[in-house]
Amino acid sequence: MIQKYVYGNPIETGAVVQEVSKSEGSSVLLHLSETDEGLEFSCRMNENDVVYGLGEQVRGINKRGFSYISYAADDPVHTENKHSLYGGHNFLILYRQDGAEQTSFGVFVDDPGKVVFDVGETKRDLLKIRTGKDCVVYVIEGDSLKDLAKQFRALTGQSYIAPKWAFGYQQSRWGYLNKSDVKTVVENHRREGIPLEAVYLDIDYMENYKDFTVDPERFSDFPEFVGEMKEQGIHLVPIIDAGVKIERGYRVYEEGVREHYFCREENGENFVGAVWPGKVHFPDVLNTKARAWFGGKYRWLIEQGIDGFWNDMNEPAIFYSEKNLKKVLHEISSIQDDNLDLNEFFHMQEIVEGLCNHPQDYQSFYHDMDGVTVCHDKVHNLYGFYMTRAAAEAFEEIVPDQRILLFSRSSYIGMHRYGGIWTGDNESWWSHLLLSIHQMPSLNLCGILYTGSDLGGFGSDVTEDLLLRWMAFAVFTPLMRNHAAAGTRMQEAYQFDAVESFRNLVRIRYALLPYLYSEYMKAALSDEMYIRPVSFDYPKDRHTFLVEDQLMVGESIMIAPVYTQNAGGRYVYLPEEMMLVRLRSDRKRTYQVLAGGHHYIDVALDEVVFFVKKNRMLPFAVLGDDVKTTQDVSPDRLVWIGFTDDWAEYTLYDDDGISRRYTPKEEWKMIRLSKGEMEGVSADASIV
Ligand code: NOJ
Repeated sequence: MIQKYVYGNPIETGAVVQEVSKSEGSSVLLHLSETDEGLEFSCRMNENDVVYGLGEQVRGINKRGFSYISYAADDPVHTENKHSLYGGHNFLILYRQDGAEQTSFGVFVDDPGKVVFDVGETKRDLLKIRTGKDCVVYVIEGDSLKDLAKQFRALTGQSYIAPKWAFGYQQSRWGYLNKSDVKTVVENHRREGIPLEAVYLDIDYMENYKDFTVDPERFSDFPEFVGEMKEQGIHLVPIIDAGVKIERGYRVYEEGVREHYFCREENGENFVGAVWPGKVHFPDVLNTKARAWFGGKYRWLIEQGIDGFWNDMNEPAIFYSEKNLKKVLHEISSIQDDNLDLNEFFHMQEIVEGLCNHPQDYQSFYHDMDGVTVCHDKVHNLYGFYMTRAAAEAFEEIVPDQRILLFSRSSYIGMHRYGGIWTGDNESWWSHLLLSIHQMPSLNLCGILYTGSDLGGFGSDVTEDLLLRWMAFAVFTPLMRNHAAAGTRMQEAYQFDAVESFRNLVRIRYALLPYLYSEYMKAALSDEMYIRPVSFDYPKDRHTFLVEDQLMVGESIMIAPVYTQNAGGRYVYLPEEMMLVRLRSDRKRTYQVLAGGHHYIDVALDEVVFFVKKNRMLPFAVLGDDVKTTQDVSPDRLVWIGFTDDWAEYTLYDDDGISRRYTPKEEWKMIRLSKGEMEGVSADASIV
């Protein structure tokens, strides 16, 4: 059951697709009070209550004990003292294990400005949500965690579906400067027998960082190059940035100015910020016409054979604004001969550092939301969503029956219908591998299924062991992309001694593809979660609510990634008897039945392990020696891994992977096998 409460005069964000009639007053589940700044919703939490959700955020799967601020931030330092990352995902579930006075519920705050979730940081037993004065609050009640998640998705719409090739292994780096760099990456993967599906083009492919341009020298004869790569099974995925360079004669700029498609200041002038190319204007993607115009620009690249994009810097990131820079430079020049004491020095440091993404800049420009002028600050979290929506809506016109890979850095609830996200500029830190494990279920709960982190970490120098462990985890995330920042250690799998282990890890991903793709598609088409906290499947087992580093992936398996340096394995909690599958490579598979409870599991650096639930099974592809892309994974050459002492069933989903004609439910293939027809150890085998 969903109740909708409307406060003030809220902005239509496009987050919700389901018609819900308005309820009067306020929810009995949340106590409402008004403050000078806005509204405050609060409720008591019992000791054992668990809070899930909030999408892309710092800290754990259970969000209790900290404050999270939805205000999309271009902040590359994702440490646990931060309160905001790139998205605004204002949905949480408060789950009451004790079923005390009140029931469990979900709450979605549809307010695209700043929203604060104090989940027991200030007072351990108090949840407080602070919003603006104008917002819509949806309160969802249901029977179970899965039911609450499903209702929320019905409310906000079906998740984006990527092409099947986007479930293959992908390589990126900020710093592939020309065609030869890209070719080298492809050649080395092919030489080492590491399957590869896509190479990303970061800002260096553009001419002076101008959107919808390609550098004519470094990437000459671009359509031919795209075609040449396609012949080798490689998709090129260019980046698109939010800011449009201010430059006379540059078509995108000229058109945008002429048609009034850019965000403006109060005085009507186009707002001037600065990003990679220097000064830019920001397309007003919240305006229908401007959005259609900006989206239409992707056509030029699609016509050259491009079929995937990543939208970046769309919080939007602002290195500095013209106005603020002037002010700061003026202030600094006025003190240049001074003998700066501590306070003066710190002040100077603060104003220089504060140039980037300055809150006042976000308050100083406006959108024309189809006739209504709205200050950016009030709708800040919508920018990345609408930039991505611009592209996705255009794709529907340009290539109506083709799936295009699309993901964004910034996002808001509702964007999951148009594209996925990647989790931005993490670091080559073990703690960020764990952070990624935490983020996946939280993002799934908010509808964002197509997601993954920069494997190996974006900033800092990766080490071989970190990359191995990260890849062993990312075998299970829909987006499996190795990406690194300019200036960091080269991070492609072939750069390391353990190249054979990397090959095995990527091949394991391809062998699991029939399962992973099937589970992704079923989750997307049925409004379910592809990756879930363990408690979603075992809510009666109180221990599962305490598990912060194991995840359910699809309907058959649980994973328990190793995320600690020099650990030779880890402790795992099994909510029931399960079958441990140990993959040394896609061909070396061993099985062991483990009783429910706690176990220590050895996991070598080059292994992937997972656990099959009781009476479940999964398809596993038999790969040829020379698998290069997802095209080489044959749906007809499967073995079934299963754990049962009798029989099990599995609904196998498959389709052409590229059209938007998703196989209807009646045709989803139900497979029923007896234990003799599966690989594994039957459930009645001796238990360790
Ligand atoms: C910031 C993005 O998060 C990162 O992935 C990208 O490499 C840089 N921008 C450069 O485009």
